[in-house]
Amino acid sequence: MSVVLKGRSLLTLLDYSTEEIRYLLDLAQQVKTESTSNEMPQRFKGKTLALLFEKRSTRTRCAFETAFGEEGGHPVFLSTADIQLGVKESIEDTARVLGRMFSAIQFRGFKQETVEILAKYSGVPVYNGLTDQFHPTQALADIMTLETHCGSSKGKRLCFVGDGRNNVARSLMVICSKLGVHFSVITPPELNPDAALREKCAPLAATSGAQITVTADTAALAGADAVYTDVWTSMGEEDKQEERKRLLGPYQVNQALMDKTGRGDSIFLHCLPAVKGQEVTHDVIDGPSSRAWDQAENRKHTIKAVMLATLL
Ligand code: CP
Ligand code: NVA
Repeated sequence: MSVVLKGRSLLTLLDYSTEEIRYLLDLAQQVKTESTSNEMPQRFKGKTLALLFEKRSTRTRCAFETAFGEEGGHPVFLSTADIQLGVKESIEDTARVLGRMFSAIQFRGFKQETVEILAKYSGVPVYNGLTDQFHPTQALADIMTLETHCGSSKGKRLCFVGDGRNNVARSLMVICSKLGVHFSVITPPELNPDAALREKCAPLAATSGAQITVTADTAALAGADAVYTDVWTSMGEEDKQEERKRLLGPYQVNQALMDKTGRGDSIFLHCLPAVKGQEVTHDVIDGPSSRAWDQAENRKHTIKAVMLATLL
């Protein structure tokens, strides 16, 4: 069965089948190979992309902007200081107008509802570049990086150590459930991923063969192919910093914690930006097991793949 994604939005990854995710990952690999050639195709020529940002970004903005621009597309960056988005104009109306002028829209911000409304009313593909709940384009780059190291992802073991209820952990749970990657969230009970998401993922994992576990015990790191962490306080939660330091101090990814995998070849992953000395030590993120920089580069290849698949 051939995969057709033209016209589709990417909102959570729950909305994509295993085959569709596989298609995007294979296309991203092809895009990565092409990126080293001197001839850059111009597949986005004549197309326009609105980049809406309520929260800051380095990787996501630069990945969308360079991937689209280098192939002849016209990206337009719009922060909340520039446009009406739920302020003096409803999100529905902004969506309707942007849909008349742009080929696609990327949104990064707070509420998942906002990106869903943009998709519903714009009539063009809308990409979730991070909300409080999900970070789907990040999860694609993460699995691409895991596959580069392990050769494949199905049956491999990925452990997320840190704030188990955040957007990155949640999107990893979704993609691992769909692809058959064994996934453990290692987090104190106060920061467990919410039960509703776990219930949505359970049947997906049953179909793919993924073992999904949530535990406070770092012994679950045994045998991990990859150890992943993210900041202890996500954007918009700055008032939680002290509480998170207290809860997550024992979960800092340092060499002693990496050693709990019991394997010399486990890799370290981080979506970045990192607070070195907090969720991860300098020696781990800047050491030989770290793939965080490849992961950052893979944001561009996976994001280009998503736009190619949904726009052409
Ligand atoms: N990983 C990630 O989304 O990075 P930015 O916040 O810099 O976009
Ligand atoms: N969980 C982090 C991810 C940053 C890419 C945040 O939302 O701030």
